[in-house]
Amino acid sequence: MKKSAAKSSPAKAKPAAAKNLPGKGRKALITGITGQDGSYLAEFLIAKGYDVHGIIRRSSSFNTGRIDHIYLDPHVKGGRLKLHYGDLCDANNLAKLVRETQPDEVYNLGAQSHVRVSFDMPVYTAETVAMGALKLLEAVRVFQAESGKQVRYYQASSSEQYGKVLEVPQTEKTPFYPRSPYACAKLMAHWATVNYRESYGMHASCGILFNHESPRRGETFVTRKITRAVGRIKVGLQDKVFLGNLDSKRDWGFAGDYVKMMWMMLQQEKPDDYVVATGRTITVREFAQMAFDYAGLSWKKHVAFDPRYLRPAEVDLLLGDPAKAKRKLGWKPETSVEQLAAMMVEHDLELARREKTLRDAGHSMPDFAGHDQ
Ligand code: NAP
Ligand code: GDD
Repeated sequence: MKKSAAKSSPAKAKPAAAKNLPGKGRKALITGITGQDGSYLAEFLIAKGYDVHGIIRRSSSFNTGRIDHIYLDPHVKGGRLKLHYGDLCDANNLAKLVRETQPDEVYNLGAQSHVRVSFDMPVYTAETVAMGALKLLEAVRVFQAESGKQVRYYQASSSEQYGKVLEVPQTEKTPFYPRSPYACAKLMAHWATVNYRESYGMHASCGILFNHESPRRGETFVTRKITRAVGRIKVGLQDKVFLGNLDSKRDWGFAGDYVKMMWMMLQQEKPDDYVVATGRTITVREFAQMAFDYAGLSWKKHVAFDPRYLRPAEVDLLLGDPAKAKRKLGWKPETSVEQLAAMMVEHDLELARREKTLRDAGHSMPDFAGHDQ
């Protein structure tokens, strides 16, 4: 096995005092803080000295696993992360939270973000992704009008909006052609953000982010599904991983690189929309091969096809051109897809080893049956 390229989750640490940090005194409100991007963004902003307010959904089981390491008990002094219950479907709650937290920056990352699941739950997906963004924009607009305070707003737009691509590579000017309920909903949220900017002069920007992954990626997205399987196969906990379309191509980057760009967009004098991508695309098959190779396994032996993972309409090719982000903001991705695959496999090998130890000690561990996508 090759040498580790892992950038694993940090251990729980007390955040540095905000004194002398550039973001000191600034407040950010994040929807989707318990998700992959929300956790990296919260870490990034806290390190800059921000006070971060995150909206979490009430759940019967804990859903804060990705941010537990940056959360301090409210009874301990010095915590700069505050969590509030809320939901993108609840307009009153969003308006109340914006009013109470009085943020300088709002990052709308919350979403039913799984494309395949959006075909099963199109209405709920539209409620959270499209109407949720509109409700939040409206909450920010009213708060600004009433308080006179300017709030900068970030919308998590998606390369999925390009769908059946009309141009390769895709830029900020490439027309959209959505291919899923998720993408249709993201398109509405995207244009609502542009519309609020143009209609009300709001500092509202869309980051059109291409696929980005990490060891914190949800386990039903294809890269993580693959790297989780690699880890478990390597230690003998499973033998096969079942996948759908291996031919689709994605421009995969590292989530940690991409959240920096979200913040950079809101530091500009003028709001604008930006493509955030690596400029390189590979197939799902190539990613699988990369991940299995890294662990010294043969992907052909362990990857099997299951049509249940095919989608009613597929997005065949995504390749972003991040030239505007580089030219105007000086942003560029720092992690190659090879480094990304290595980082994820390293992490998931460790996870599988721990799982194996527990199983060998007689603990019953769940399989992934409930997460079948
Ligand atoms: P993710 O890991 O699936 O996280 C989604 C977050 O949204 C979670 O915190 C989830 O809460 C929350 N959420 C779901 N439904 C909600 C609701 N009704 N009200 C409030 N919060 C809700 O997604 P991600 O990968 O971090 O992506 C962040 C954002 O970027 C999403 O909007 C996604 O659509 C968009 N995006 C992602 C990519 C990518 O490749 N990752 C690319 C382009 C755009 P729970 O933890 O409770 O489920
Ligand atoms: N999830 C999944 N599971 N996808 C599979 C599988 C499988 O077993 N087998 C093949 N794929 C293919 C899908 O058909 C798709 O072409 C590709 O792998 C990537 O699928 P996902 O990882 O689920 O991501 P996505 O591209 O559909 O959507 C992600 O990226 C978007 C940005 O382009 C999500 O993060 C979206 O929220 C995001 O907007």
